[in-house]
Amino acid sequence: MLDGKKMLFSGMQATGTLTLGNYLGALKNWLTLSDEYECFYCVVDLHSITVRQDPAELRKRARNLLTLYIAAGLDPVKNCIYYQSHVPAHAELGWILNCFTYVGELNRMTQFKDKAAKHADNINAGLYTYPVLMAADILLFQSDVVPVGIDQMQHLELTRDVAERFNGIYGDVFTIPEAYLGKTGAKIMSLQDPTKKMSKSDENPNASILLMDDTDTIIRKFKRAVTDSEAQILYRDEQPGIKNLINVYSCVTGKTPAEVEREFDGKGYGDFKLAVGESVANHLRPVQDEFARLSKDKAYIDGIIKENAEKAGYFANKTLRKVQKKVGFPERIR
Ligand code: TRP
Repeated sequence: MLDGKKMLFSGMQATGTLTLGNYLGALKNWLTLSDEYECFYCVVDLHSITVRQDPAELRKRARNLLTLYIAAGLDPVKNCIYYQSHVPAHAELGWILNCFTYVGELNRMTQFKDKAAKHADNINAGLYTYPVLMAADILLFQSDVVPVGIDQMQHLELTRDVAERFNGIYGDVFTIPEAYLGKTGAKIMSLQDPTKKMSKSDENPNASILLMDDTDTIIRKFKRAVTDSEAQILYRDEQPGIKNLINVYSCVTGKTPAEVEREFDGKGYGDFKLAVGESVANHLRPVQDEFARLSKDKAYIDGIIKENAEKAGYFANKTLRKVQKKVGFPERIR
């Protein structure tokens, strides 16, 4: 708790570029969370090197992600957006928690098994203990809530188990975190297969709208979106392609699905797709413009990076010092 606000922590990897799905499904919903929570959004670069990275690329992507969050409207004064590698307490608590996590627990992690299969030539110890570092991220901030996708629920469960184990031995040191479910944003589906989630790793470039796509590209991708032959713009499960487009249009215009149905009553799919494409392009343009502007303002972004690392470090060190004392490390001489 800080000033009566609960703590919220989320980590994100700087992999490639964000999609409209990431934006409408997650990021856009975070903009108002800082009213209710003390929010920390960490660019988890320590996690990134569990698979081989090109150093210059990693640095660039991490900075772009951080800049994009601000461009999309996350106020960097109200939300602490920072790099994990700038706060050494993550690695330090990670080490300690390694000693409170069982190999048997890590062996059950499905993401490790998937990634090990994908990177068979580099199954390193960091990949194996990845969830322990994630536990450290969360527990350092005494987080009450953690917005995560279902693919991360197993890691969050492990975090809770490790925290409870530690508390069981040393008393109440860690807050036990919960998944943040909140108002879930619309789940945006692939434009080429509306039964699949829109994903940045889709091999078909027409399947996803990237946050940095220009207007022509956005409109072209929506024109090619897979729909059906019903020729009716109705919000129903039997028409997953049209339903997905209505969801997108609702998110960017603030209209309800019923209002959208009425607006396009009697109109054709061509008109509707064009309207969706134009509204998405118009919605993203200010974010893109702000990203371009901020990217050029090196001093401003550098200032945010420095201040937020200090702020995060302050909270993280409070927890770390407590933990170090509990486990029996010697007191620091000042
Ligand atoms: N493992 C998360 C992912 O791949 C990223 C992450 C790292 C994270 N540390 C975290 C998410 C702490 C939430 C809280 O998506």
